[in-house]
Amino acid sequence: MTVLDRAGTGEQQAFVSNSDIDIARVGPGTPGGQFLRQFWVPIFRSEDLTKGLSMPIKIMDENFALYRGHSGKAQVMDYHCPHRRAPMHLGWVEEDALRCMYHGWKFDCTGECLEQPAEDPAFAKKITIRTYPTEEYLGLIYAYFGDGKAPAFPPYPAPTEEGFTENPPVNPLPCNYLQSFENSLDEVHVAFAHRTGGSHEGIYDMPEISIEETDWGMIRYGKRASGDVRISLHYPPFTTRVIVPPMAGLAGAGGWREIYLHFTPIDDETQQWFVINHVRATGEELDKYLAANEIYKKRAEEAGSAQDWGMAAIRGEIRIHEFEHPELVRVQDAAMMVGQGAYTDRTLERLGRSDTAIIAWRKMLERELRAINEGRPTKKWNVAPADIVPNFGFQSK
Ligand code: FES
Ligand SMILES: [Fe+2]
Repeated sequence: MTVLDRAGTGEQQAFVSNSDIDIARVGPGTPGGQFLRQFWVPIFRSEDLTKGLSMPIKIMDENFALYRGHSGKAQVMDYHCPHRRAPMHLGWVEEDALRCMYHGWKFDCTGECLEQPAEDPAFAKKITIRTYPTEEYLGLIYAYFGDGKAPAFPPYPAPTEEGFTENPPVNPLPCNYLQSFENSLDEVHVAFAHRTGGSHEGIYDMPEISIEETDWGMIRYGKRASGDVRISLHYPPFTTRVIVPPMAGLAGAGGWREIYLHFTPIDDETQQWFVINHVRATGEELDKYLAANEIYKKRAEEAGSAQDWGMAAIRGEIRIHEFEHPELVRVQDAAMMVGQGAYTDRTLERLGRSDTAIIAWRKMLERELRAINEGRPTKKWNVAPADIVPNFGFQSK
């Protein structure tokens, strides 16, 4: 373990990269994109992909077909058919294979061509389509888009406490993924961005931030004036595991929950959040939560997309401090992150000591991306031990 800046005094040197490495790029030809492709990444909610369904997806600036075979197996394959490049997702799911709509070529989960109805049978043996390792865990579908053998799966430990796990609906957010990941590294913003209408009262005092980079990711400490320390975990390339209060519309139900946030890039300027929400309630308490959650979900749907309201706030169409929404925290976060710009210019920032965690993550990224750029070996990341878990750090409401 390496202990990085634990205290910090005053303004930190803004992270101005002198290199040509742009740490937030996601495309396949960029060092940033190559870094992201070293890891399993969540790409879809399991519950949204029913058997026999095939869908187009765009992940890290590349298009793919995703389908679920009739055995239940989810599979990612290249977007274009190798025959004449028709989109594969428009075809038919047959058993665990996908048949192209254009001329009926059929491919299995390994990418082998099983049938070409209008061709000589020997031709099929020469044809493959690229498929990508695909797994499911905690309600999400993950894929590995890198070269060579995929790393260990699952990529991080599951919650250790008993409870109920759910995955909220997923919507695209129009800004670069790293802005949202950095927001999740930023404990101080909670006291201001979420001052109104949430249930974040317990975390309004200013924390002193420090971090540790480990062989599996990063631990963030937020030390309060009381001496209490809140611990949050960050797994590469863009997962944050943290204990958070319930949304405004769920105040009092289920208590504080453990969440895993993933900011999966669609392209350089768009991302989607995949959330694993672990409510630590059982028995009667869980029944109460589930009842409250039904009402909450209905109210959230009626109130309209929190992210769209965040955009409305940026345009000056609503007064965000007087605004009410069951998912107000998401309205507030969306306004901050998208308001920075679709792809923010980090050279214009002035960072302080409270940005310690953000600075550390950027330094790690620059180190890794520079190694990729220069053809040197990158860090070997391990899976985090199951007994390192996030905590409240203080009494929850
Ligand atoms: S383009 Fe797919 S079978 Fe022809
Ligand atoms: Fe936030």
